[in-house]
Amino acid sequence: MASISNAFSLSLPSNRIANSSSDFNPITSALSGLDSGEFSPGRVAVSKPSGIGGRICANATPVMDQPVGEKSSGAPTIVEVDLGNRSYPIYIGSGLFDQPELLQKHVHGKKVIVVTNTTIAPLYLDKVVEALTKGNTAVSVEYVILPDGEKFKDMDTLMKVFDKAIESRLDRRCTFVALGGGVIGDMCGFAAASFLVNFIQIPTTVMAQVDSSVGGKTGINHPLGKNLIGAFYQPQCVLIDTDTLDTLPDRELASGLAEVIKYGLIRDAEFFQWQEKNMEKLIARNPNALAYAIKRSCENKAEVVSFDEKESGLRATLNLGHTFGHAIETGFGYGQWLHGEAVAAGMVSCHGC
Ligand SMILES: NC(=O)c1ccc[n+]([C@@H]2O[C@H](COP(=O)([O-])OP(=O)(O)OC[C@H]3O[C@@H](n4cnc5c(N)ncnc54)[C@H](O)[C@@H]3O)[C@@H](O)[C@H]2O)c1
Ligand SMILES: [Zn+2]
Repeated sequence: MASISNAFSLSLPSNRIANSSSDFNPITSALSGLDSGEFSPGRVAVSKPSGIGGRICANATPVMDQPVGEKSSGAPTIVEVDLGNRSYPIYIGSGLFDQPELLQKHVHGKKVIVVTNTTIAPLYLDKVVEALTKGNTAVSVEYVILPDGEKFKDMDTLMKVFDKAIESRLDRRCTFVALGGGVIGDMCGFAAASFLVNFIQIPTTVMAQVDSSVGGKTGINHPLGKNLIGAFYQPQCVLIDTDTLDTLPDRELASGLAEVIKYGLIRDAEFFQWQEKNMEKLIARNPNALAYAIKRSCENKAEVVSFDEKESGLRATLNLGHTFGHAIETGFGYGQWLHGEAVAAGMVSCHGC
């Protein structure tokens, strides 16, 4: 338990939350509920309605003794999001930007617009453009670089994507590519939904890799509330090159781990136990521990989404901690608290309800 508490003492800004060891220790207090039997997570036993077909995606193999060693590149791990004719793969692995065929087979049309921001563009835009075009002269790639931050997840910034698409004379046979964290993924996805074009998610934060890039929720904030304007719109694929996490700031890493812990709390007790054993490795960015946490999180999200794509029931469990979390984010001003920080506090608040 101590190790999961450590994730949150990293995650929650010390100037806003009192000392984790004494006054406020969110996961320890969440776990005390587990110990006393007040809240007992487990895998939700859901069975796929007959007639829909497809496979259940979450991995049911034991997780406690997963090896966590050195980074290994090669063929990606693939998690399927099973949504009938809107199904798509999530590719997870190291060195995936060097495997252009993964991206290229999901591009529709001859024109691509990469949507990214001022922080991510200098780090990864060239690599992604190369992956999209290597050995493929049939496609032309343009890009739009948005300002960075939750406070720009708004209508004015979204309009810059449409400006670029219209100036470039794009028609419906083109592909948008979201390169970045959850803010870019949510905005690019919503732009694609509105422009009625295909899109690809290339998430570069833990938050986006374990949660926001999967499941097709897209949208923007309104001054009065988070994510109030949006659409359900599924990508063609999600490509998670875990090497991108090498440049992610510690605070962002810890913020993303809040959503990983959420899966353990809402539906995957074995994964939660694995997290308890491996949290220090996750915080230390052990590549295989991170890859495993991403895979397991995607499996959980894929399974929930495949049962309830548009949140008429089960999918709402993914919102654990989010009512309070969104209030914190909106109340303090977008970007003051990171999304995962606010959700972590929200999950603790829920425990006290
Ligand atoms: N659609 C969904 O289902 C869903 C789920 C969870 C969260 N979200 C949304 O996601 C957003 C939060 O996403 P986030 O935590 O990724 O925040 P973010 O997109 O703001 O990214 C965090 C910061 O990290 C930077 N960054 C991203 N990748 C980097 C990298 N590899 N190296 C260095 N810096 C990098 C970004 O530029 C940004 O400054 C919120 O708006 C939240 O509402 C949506
Ligand atoms: Zn969230």
